[in-house]
Amino acid sequence: MTTRILLTTTSYQDTPGTHLDLLESKGWEVVRERGPLSEEQMLALAGEFDGFLCGDDAITRAVIDKSLPRLKWISKYGIGIDKIDKAYATSKGIPIGFCPGVNHTTVAEHTFGLMIALTRKIVEVANHTCQGDWKRLTGNEIMGKRLGVVGMGRIGKAVIERAIAFGMERCAFDVCWDQEFASKHAVTRCETIEELLSSCDIISLNCVLDESTVNLVNKQTISSMRDGVIIINCARGEIVNSQDIAEALHSGKIGGYGADVLEVEPPPSNHVLFSTPNTIITSHIGSRTYESVQRQAMMATQNLINFVDNKRPLAQANVLPGQEQARTTAKDGELFFVVRRQVHNELVESAYLHRGYSVAEANAASRFCEMAAEYGIRTHNAIKALHLDHLFGSSVGGCVPGAEIERLPCRFEGSEIWNAKLKLGQSVAFDAMQRCMELADRYGIGQVSVDNTFHYLWGGGYVIEAAMKGYIAYTNCTAALAEVVPYLGKYPTLGTNPHSWAFPTQHAIGFPIVIDWATSTVSMGRVQQLKREGKPLPPGAAVDAHGNPTTDAAQAVSLLPFGAHKGYGLSLINELIAALIGGSLPTLRSRQVEPGEKSSTNFYFQVIHPEAMNAGLFADGRSQADNVKAVIQDILGHGNENCLLPGQIEANAANQTAAANGLLFTEAEIRSFGEIAHECGRPAWDLDALRTFRC
Ligand SMILES: NC(=O)c1ccc[n+]([C@@H]2O[C@H](COP(=O)([O-])OP(=O)(O)OC[C@H]3O[C@@H](n4cnc5c(N)ncnc54)[C@H](O)[C@@H]3O)[C@@H](O)[C@H]2O)c1
Repeated sequence: MTTRILLTTTSYQDTPGTHLDLLESKGWEVVRERGPLSEEQMLALAGEFDGFLCGDDAITRAVIDKSLPRLKWISKYGIGIDKIDKAYATSKGIPIGFCPGVNHTTVAEHTFGLMIALTRKIVEVANHTCQGDWKRLTGNEIMGKRLGVVGMGRIGKAVIERAIAFGMERCAFDVCWDQEFASKHAVTRCETIEELLSSCDIISLNCVLDESTVNLVNKQTISSMRDGVIIINCARGEIVNSQDIAEALHSGKIGGYGADVLEVEPPPSNHVLFSTPNTIITSHIGSRTYESVQRQAMMATQNLINFVDNKRPLAQANVLPGQEQARTTAKDGELFFVVRRQVHNELVESAYLHRGYSVAEANAASRFCEMAAEYGIRTHNAIKALHLDHLFGSSVGGCVPGAEIERLPCRFEGSEIWNAKLKLGQSVAFDAMQRCMELADRYGIGQVSVDNTFHYLWGGGYVIEAAMKGYIAYTNCTAALAEVVPYLGKYPTLGTNPHSWAFPTQHAIGFPIVIDWATSTVSMGRVQQLKREGKPLPPGAAVDAHGNPTTDAAQAVSLLPFGAHKGYGLSLINELIAALIGGSLPTLRSRQVEPGEKSSTNFYFQVIHPEAMNAGLFADGRSQADNVKAVIQDILGHGNENCLLPGQIEANAANQTAAANGLLFTEAEIRSFGEIAHECGRPAWDLDALRTFRC
């Protein structure tokens, strides 16, 4: 029987993007409705579907009963699942997928949109202006005002981060308190909700809707608030009593109400808040941006696909009976431990500071290691970075903490040549990529060649950042050691040379295409990772000390290039570019050398502004961006819909990082971080105290 899905979310359906192609590619029968649907509407449809891909539709007990026995999965497009009878769905064995961590930025921006629109009376003044009435109303600054955030979850935190930039005083109330975040962002903890409500100039509601928050803002709680308080509600309509808010707006007790949500959506045309002063109501668009819809829709679709394929979703809101057991025994999906970014970065920074690096270098290093972990680059996370530094860096003079980059003379305006003087690679690479972007803005293309470098870890991170900003970026770096045997050769004279390109394709497919190659079949980082995990190498990847092929990670001494003479050619590119800049002999790299010889690595960076390549003669009147999209669609059409684009794996990993709300590490990796903590005198992370997440 064909899988039948009920799709109700309108932003999903109305926003173009790859989620639509992904859904289409599954060949399911998809019935499209315009939600949010009431219980009656859902009951009229229920019974004929295997799954719901839903928004805020009423999925009540009665709807679930009528949907059974066919209904097997619910994939909520979004984070709030208050319209779903979660307990009943759980008792009936129906998993509920949802999308945490993909729309907090968007909703936080909307919160500030409403806040500033109210305090500066923007909508009111704009309406007067276009009616020919040049009315100059006086508003208030938000700087220095006390902001109270109810619910310091993902959105609440994003609101707080932005409040810092506006110079606001910050306090919050949450039943689950994140002291680490509060300390870092100077957020005062309100012990009770009453304390928050009675002490703020502006209140932002960012909590979930449940029995503890329904009707939280009512006549009584409003009476305790400061006169003229501004309330912003981007959470759920039922958290406030609209009638009580309306009365307080009329009396002036509440100075302004900005809401993206109402208790009934769409509301009746005579809703009580449509005739109140200083009120702005938007139509539940807080998470509706092209960027956020893409992320959310991809995640909701992927959750549903995983359900159908009997795999774990990226995020599930309920735990089914027996599933907890399965969590610990399941063979599918690896178990990860979730480490907060700040906790990770503090440890990594401490480790670099402990080894004598400057604060700026330690920051660059931790920021880069965080990025590697975020994108799932487990071969090149902080463990590898510090290991590399230990083997070839600060302890043996291969890297010089605090070194200052020297700009060398160059007569070409779009080009720069630097002497890094063995400065930490991550610091140099961030600066070089930034400079390339500046040059590309000016000359269409920019390049920075760097001599006397210490390895920068993972080229993909730098090019992804540039692509996210709209540029085409490339980098390569000579490897720390010659470990790869050239095609038809016997002795390792080449490195596992990285080539990283990224293209700004996020508007076409939701993520940048990243071609991030190391030129041997596996890298030494991968060998070390597999050794740590007790896993074998792929065949044809390595040879042992006697030159014999091996799949034993512990025996691997040298690696083999992929793709025979072509892969070998790719290995040569870095060596030739490095040779042109000032590169050392590959077999001397990172080793003790005779005076006069060099043993350092080299970096090369190049950034192109897409406009600098635009011939403007696109078929069918397409723009450059549309043409890129059309080309990718053609490549992935014709039955290729399920093909993987390079960059998808990194994008999936970033989605999982977002869903887990922290960086993901295996148990073995957590233990390695324990050694790093030991080295710099910090407590090791407690495995038992870390949340787990299965990918
Ligand atoms: N306007 C929109 O388009 C839009 C989009 C996304 C989410 N939302 C709403 O925003 C809410 C928050 O989203 P999020 O991603 O930050 O979720 P989240 O789960 O990360 O955060 C919710 C926070 O509310 C806290 N909380 C629970 N009960 C509380 C109580 N009684 N008092 C105070 N805090 C309490 C939780 O501990 C948690 O920290 C969602 O539940 C949803 O209703 C609205």
